[in-house]
Amino acid sequence: MSSLKDLFSPRGIAVVGASKDPTKIGHLILKNVVEYGYGGKIYPVNPAADEVLGLKAYPAVSTISGGVDVVVVSVPSAKVLDVVDDAGKAGAKHLVVIAAGFKEVGNVELENELVRRARKHGMRVLGPNIFGYVYTPVKLNATFGPRDVIPGNVAFITQSGALGIALMGSTILEGIGISALVSVGNKADIDDADLLEFFDEDPNTSVVLIYMEGVNDGRRFVNVASRISMKKPVVVIKSGRTEAGARAAASHTGSLAGNVALYETAFRQSGVLSVKSVEEAFDFVKTLSWNPLPSGERVVVITNGGGAGVQASDTLADDGLYLEKPPQDFVEEVKKIVPPFASLANPVDLTGMASEDWYYKSVKTALENREIDAVLVLYCHTALTSPMGVARAIHRAVGEAGARKPISVAIIGGLEAYEAIRYLTNLKVPAYPTPERAAHAIAAQIRYRRYREYLLKRILPGG
Ligand code: ACO
Repeated sequence: MSSLKDLFSPRGIAVVGASKDPTKIGHLILKNVVEYGYGGKIYPVNPAADEVLGLKAYPAVSTISGGVDVVVVSVPSAKVLDVVDDAGKAGAKHLVVIAAGFKEVGNVELENELVRRARKHGMRVLGPNIFGYVYTPVKLNATFGPRDVIPGNVAFITQSGALGIALMGSTILEGIGISALVSVGNKADIDDADLLEFFDEDPNTSVVLIYMEGVNDGRRFVNVASRISMKKPVVVIKSGRTEAGARAAASHTGSLAGNVALYETAFRQSGVLSVKSVEEAFDFVKTLSWNPLPSGERVVVITNGGGAGVQASDTLADDGLYLEKPPQDFVEEVKKIVPPFASLANPVDLTGMASEDWYYKSVKTALENREIDAVLVLYCHTALTSPMGVARAIHRAVGEAGARKPISVAIIGGLEAYEAIRYLTNLKVPAYPTPERAAHAIAAQIRYRRYREYLLKRILPGG
């Protein structure tokens, strides 16, 4: 097991700088640790307090007599080194350094000294300049972000603090379940590659999402990312792609954003799905974490609108995926329900007359057909049907179909469409407001499948 095991499942956690003042970050972190339900020992550390949030407080980590594996450090940067030595004496294994004021503002020597001293005591450092971390399998939320993160199978590594906190909230809104959420900030010690090694072996994680400004050791990242990508998809939002963005990254986390083309090549070689926006990343994470892996590339598009079908076909083609004629037995089944003027090539157009029942029958038939690997369902809100009715029909088809297969749904319309999307999302059926986003998300699964096959071939004898 990776050396980060104790970071994610500590016997005890100390919060240094745990203030009684409810507006201070140390207080907020302690509150999240307590209220999210962490089952291990929790120790507030503050020489000025006897108790914080009803827990006995300690003047220093070295005065705690239980096992402390993790020390969250929420005191100003000038005081951090004192805590390092004290935590080292106490036998801690990991320091989670919240404080800003290191490399990102030119204090390179202070940051180097932090790592040097931690290493001397055999400790690893997460941060500095971070908002903390979450690991839902042990109900640990040691952040000053939102408390009620939804448990799930996505591990999220973020180099941006504020954006990370905001995205933490978005995962709750979007129904994305999290196994871990790690703010890495300046990455003085623990970096993406260390975390990927842990998530590679972590049975609670099946997809990894990274917001990255730069990497410290590109070669190591490629090696580790290639290994994990054979098992689990890794999605990366690489920011600082433009000159302006790179300048912003340098003053944000002290990262060198580097050459875009180099990063893109490295990502492709290591099987990483590179995305440009947060929206695209979340769209991908939904299909990748809620759907099974497709066993082939044969996608069937079912729609009630020709235009939506055309837009989806274009998007799939842009992603290198070309639609083939659907299997004849599937076509014969659909023919029984649709009017004679329906076009049954791919996209399969149920026409504007499509009822909720037509959606149910055609989607179920597609999911059950052995010559179809993935299904893209498009619905444009018409007066004949309600988006919620169609969403229910699709969910029923998914539930009743014998085989589990990737599916992606677009529900296009107004407020009712939005509610239907939320309904499907809550049931872990990936649903989007446009045909392009639904198509792009299912294509991500096919792209990942291709990358994975390429990586597996590379390591197999004769591959
Ligand atoms: N051991 C234990 N407790 C100590 C020690 C020590 N050695 N030294 C001080 N303390 C206590 C203080 O007395 C205080 O407790 P009190 O309120 O009871 O007096 C508490 O620790 C906190 O110390 P403060 O000096 O009040 O520091 P404050 O809480 O205001 O700020 C912080 C500390 C949050 C680390 C701040 O210096 C900082 O760096 N903030 C930026 C954090 C940040 O932006 N992180 C980046 C990612 S998040 C994002 O981008 C949104």
